[in-house]
Amino acid sequence: MKKHWWKESVIYQIYPRSFMDSNGDGIGDIPGIITKLDYLKELGVDVIWLSPVYKSPNDDNGYDISDYRDIMDDLGTMADWELLLKEMHDRGMKLIMDLVVNHSSDEHQWFVESRKSKDNPYRDYYIWRPGKNGKEPNNWESVFSGSSWQYDETTDEYYLHIFSKKQPDLNWENPKLRQEIYDMMQFWLDKGIDGFRMDVINFISKVDGLPDAPNPEGKPYASGSQFFMNGPKIHDYLQEMSREVLDRYNAMTVGEMPGANVELAKLYTDEDRNEVNMIFQFEHVDLDSGPGGKWDLRPLKLTDLKKSFTKWQMGLEEIGWNSLYLNNHDQPRMVSRFGDDKEFRVESAKMLGTFLHMLKGTPYIYQGEEIGMTNVRFDSIDEYKDIETLNMYNEKVKQNGEDPEKVMESIYVKGRDNARTPFQWDNSEHGGFTTGTPWLQVNPNYKEINASQAVKDDNSIYHYYRKLIQLRKEHQIIVHGSYDILVPEDENIYVYTRTLESQKLLVLLNFTNEEQSFDVPADLQGKKNEILISNYEASAGYGSAIPLRPYEAIVYLIQN
Ligand code: NOJ
Repeated sequence: MKKHWWKESVIYQIYPRSFMDSNGDGIGDIPGIITKLDYLKELGVDVIWLSPVYKSPNDDNGYDISDYRDIMDDLGTMADWELLLKEMHDRGMKLIMDLVVNHSSDEHQWFVESRKSKDNPYRDYYIWRPGKNGKEPNNWESVFSGSSWQYDETTDEYYLHIFSKKQPDLNWENPKLRQEIYDMMQFWLDKGIDGFRMDVINFISKVDGLPDAPNPEGKPYASGSQFFMNGPKIHDYLQEMSREVLDRYNAMTVGEMPGANVELAKLYTDEDRNEVNMIFQFEHVDLDSGPGGKWDLRPLKLTDLKKSFTKWQMGLEEIGWNSLYLNNHDQPRMVSRFGDDKEFRVESAKMLGTFLHMLKGTPYIYQGEEIGMTNVRFDSIDEYKDIETLNMYNEKVKQNGEDPEKVMESIYVKGRDNARTPFQWDNSEHGGFTTGTPWLQVNPNYKEINASQAVKDDNSIYHYYRKLIQLRKEHQIIVHGSYDILVPEDENIYVYTRTLESQKLLVLLNFTNEEQSFDVPADLQGKKNEILISNYEASAGYGSAIPLRPYEAIVYLIQN
């Protein structure tokens, strides 16, 4: 396998609206980020992925872009952004930008033109269809509830929007649109950025004819994902994008790809095919959803998690590359979901960090993960801001009369605002995020959980993450070693090894709040070993069984 800088890196995701407010308007901004670059440098991350900062009416917090070449007023100016890039590069950090090109905002000039008339030169930048029997052109449900189609009176047609009605899908069939996107990507690469995170990039090719989705239950709308995910021209478009733009730069790309399985991931990330470097896949974050989708809660089985990670680790062993994440701005907080955010918050956050950072692939840290920020429970739906959550609540409670308490429970577990509460910098009002009124309330636990406390405490999650990041730089085995799982059927502990030449890593993880024990296989006994990292006091050397305290994580480096 070839070596690349993005294989050796740890990436930190910033959700700008919630990171740091510099001007007291309650919204995080670019000058705020600049004031925190030293904190991130200290943590040791190499790359920052910035969620969208482009001009946007903020229907979906910047994932609805009205001008791809300018900065959102709430967040600062182009001069601020240029300074951010310079300050990052001066510190030896790289910047990757979010590329949101499955859809734009309905306030983008292209769409303003497109909706004017059927013969407008921008008409085919979007996906317009006449209605069918007085209804929408097909029965696809929007990811954000309701139909995927919006009727537009001016031309008596509907436009497609897989997400909100203010996020019309761009028409990638149109070569002129594709060229516009490539030119725009070049604009940012020429400014010196180091790559792109590509939003739902496997949605850009849709199946010809946009057929109705199967709907055995006769619901008003049904999931058409099989017709708009991984569509027939997706590989052509990605390869064209590489040829037209990316090949000229030493840039990295990560494609967000819901609905991609390992076989597809191999196609997307095979270096010889020149599509993207790695993808964000969703299998492991769908394991705690029932047949009704993300809000249909079901308990997670550790064996399912192990099966899934093992499939991806082994599947992309020779061809392709994994991205590693347990949370981001769309997912609940990692420690609340996979660990214990109360009694063993610190231990379990460190254990989950160990789990992820010792796997093969590029780890992503989502802001606040490094201090163990948790999910939030606001009393009323009125405190929530996320369009996905609010649309779902309206549909279920107001339209379908479902029990509001049950729906709130699902929001507490899965809602995206869990990840979007402002960063907790210190124990002053609003966690030091703003001197004004935050756009989304700060999690009330900021008095105990905050960065200032974490930096001061040598035993904090923050310092543990510093060490995890540092270890990757010191040990090639963490980057390149091959993965194997031990005790795959155990419901309580996750044990895996990484192997490179004569070295082995033995990674032991207790996923429960009780003591467990691991029976060491004969071939791993009696070897010279040292502890690379552990979240309790532990000493090198082990016998035929290794006891594990609640949420304990230990990594042994073994010499053969
Ligand atoms: C995925 C993004 O991560 C999410 O935040 C957004 O709502 C959708 N794509 C639509 O852009």
